Amino acid sequence: MTTMRAMATDQVGPGARLRPHTLPVKEPADGEVLIKVMAAAVNPADLGMVAGNYRWYDELRLPLVPGYDVAGVVEGGDWVAGAAVIASTGHSRTQVGGFAEYVTLPAAQVAAAPANLDWTEAATLPLAGLTAYQALELLDLAPGTTLLVNGPRGAVGRFAAELAVSRGITVLTPDRGEEPAPGSADAALDVVGGPRARAAFAAVRDGGSYVTTVPEFWVPGGQFTADRGIDPRIVRAEPDGRTLDHLARAAAAGHLTATVAKTLALTEAADAVDLLQAGGVRGKLVLVP
Ligand SMILES: NC(=O)c1ccc[n+]([C@@H]2O[C@H](COP(=O)([O-])OP(=O)(O)OC[C@H]3O[C@@H](n4cnc5c(N)ncnc54)[C@H](OP(=O)(O)O)[C@@H]3O)[C@@H](O)[C@H]2O)c1
Repeated sequence: MTTMRAMATDQVGPGARLRPHTLPVKEPADGEVLIKVMAAAVNPADLGMVAGNYRWYDELRLPLVPGYDVAGVVEGGDWVAGAAVIASTGHSRTQVGGFAEYVTLPAAQVAAAPANLDWTEAATLPLAGLTAYQALELLDLAPGTTLLVNGPRGAVGRFAAELAVSRGITVLTPDRGEEPAPGSADAALDVVGGPRARAAFAAVRDGGSYVTTVPEFWVPGGQFTADRGIDPRIVRAEPDGRTLDHLARAAAAGHLTATVAKTLALTEAADAVDLLQAGGVRGKLVLVP
């Protein structure tokens, strides 16, 4: 059995901390790809997993290896060997984590990496890019309409704003403390939650559209009432190689900006989680095995 180094925890919740583990490398089954991870980005979801605030489709299997985003080299399975790829691990379904030397994933979750980005930049694309793209699909906006994005300097918000602009949508990006004017937008994408979500909802005109990435702040029948003709929706990012391919091409064409705040060694994954938890990080933290 081939083994690899991975950063994992044997428990989730208070006191959980990522530590080096030696785990088996899963041989790719039919339709799967074995990827040697060159870079893995850290997302807010990884904090939630370790803290025990996360729901998987199946019962959690320990040790937990977090990590949604990988960029790496194909070493086997259903893809061209040696190809540079990016992938979303689709952790909520697969429980495959990118904080490891290898991942084995369905080929349908993989796309060619954009040639103009280095490994760390490429690793910032999958989860945030898929979320942004799928949120825009839900919002279903025509060119010339106005979209408010309330966290435009974050990963999802920035990609959503960039994708929207390339579709001819006018994007409003309020500053952190700025209250958007009620009814000033055709649609809003909330990536912050709490009071900022309520302000974003208020900014949507009657009959407009509203999507949030932060479902814990969404109270059906509560603060977001249906009586304004707005159907509030939650986006739940799904891994999708075709969309990822589209995003990679958009990045290669210069329409998406990959922003790396800091690169850390894979063995520093626990420090990366602490850094993200502390707040104030602009751009992605990326782990390199
Ligand atoms: N539903 C899904 O499938 C899905 C998928 C991906 C992410 N998410 C969630 O979406 C959210 C955003 O993810 P991300 O990766 O984009 O995170 P991120 O890169 O950390 O960005 C968060 C953004 O929120 C802003 N923000 C935070 N607190 C704020 C406040 N009090 N007032 C105004 N702005 C505030 C930040 O502003 P500054 O830059 O000024 O600090 C930043 O622009 C997270 O909660 C994440 O868990 C959900």
